[in-house]
Amino acid sequence: MTVKRNEASAAGEWRLGDRVVKRMGFGSMRLTVRADRERAVAVLRRAVEMGVDHIDTAAFYFSPGGILDGESGTVRYATELIREALRPYDQGIFIATKVGPDPRPDGGWGEAAMPGQLRRQVEENLRRLDVEALDLVNLRIVKPVGPEGVAERFGALAEMRAEGLIRHLGLSNVRVEHVDAAEKVAPVACVQNAYAVDLRRHDELLRECGKRGIAFVPFFTIAGPSREAGAGDGDSGAEWRIARERGVTGHQVRLAWTLQQGEHVLVIPGTGDIAHLEENVAAGALRLSEAEMAEMDQRR
Ligand SMILES: NC(=O)c1ccc[n+]([C@@H]2O[C@H](COP(=O)([O-])OP(=O)(O)OC[C@H]3O[C@@H](n4cnc5c(N)ncnc54)[C@H](OP(=O)(O)O)[C@@H]3O)[C@@H](O)[C@H]2O)c1
Repeated sequence: MTVKRNEASAAGEWRLGDRVVKRMGFGSMRLTVRADRERAVAVLRRAVEMGVDHIDTAAFYFSPGGILDGESGTVRYATELIREALRPYDQGIFIATKVGPDPRPDGGWGEAAMPGQLRRQVEENLRRLDVEALDLVNLRIVKPVGPEGVAERFGALAEMRAEGLIRHLGLSNVRVEHVDAAEKVAPVACVQNAYAVDLRRHDELLRECGKRGIAFVPFFTIAGPSREAGAGDGDSGAEWRIARERGVTGHQVRLAWTLQQGEHVLVIPGTGDIAHLEENVAAGALRLSEAEMAEMDQRR
């Protein structure tokens, strides 16, 4: 599938809070994997050129061993790469970031951040992105936290929203009862959880979000159960059989299947490669038939 300018519109749109975004977005986590700053900046600019206006990030996307800035040896953050590539920001660009995990220098996670730490994380996002207000902040749950713990932390973010530092709030890595608890505190614009054709633990949550008008933003759509290890080299499974018949790739079929789970589902495939980006954005125009969807569902 070839890519035309503004092809991201082919996937359709969704109202995220007070803004309308394309359902084909971009995830920036993979940008810091390769030690190539110029390439990362080029990927971001190409995404926007193709009409992508929903970019996902986090202050903690820097990965040990991530992009080093020349001889100074400074670790580059995905948020700083976004600023460098896209500032001054087009009014249409919607940047969703996340707070919650307290990353340790060794790459592991500390305890879930408490309200004071959440404020520092929000301030770090504001500084690195160089914006006065964050479009959307997801509260990312790292360690098991009950609904009360979610409500307490969401409440801290709601205060920052009232102060004008944040426009919209979301949740990540949560269950339905967490969404219930958060909705009592402030509106939930989106839920971001791991979800793919072969990673279906959150089917019920996806449907529940649709009923409540909340965007469901899956991650690991392409990687599936390989998660952080990324997309495998394999070309087996229903997606690749369908892909060969359609003259597309299995990754595109996975993205199309995900988009067809509901109008409220917004994808954010992550890549540090321009050819992969173009392939992913082109998948927004792919529509699977009922028979193909059923064949994909057999994979669960
Ligand atoms: N809320 C959370 O806790 C959370 C957790 C993880 C991720 N996220 C967000 O969700 C986004 C998506 O997740 P993800 O990036 O981990 O996984 P993903 O989008 O499912 O897949 C990314 C992997 O697939 C590869 N890939 C992407 N497009 C490809 C293509 N067309 N052909 C071949 N390989 C391709 C990438 O490598 P290349 O770079 O080589 O293309 C990378 O290994 C992230 O970027 C991040 O913004 C959120």
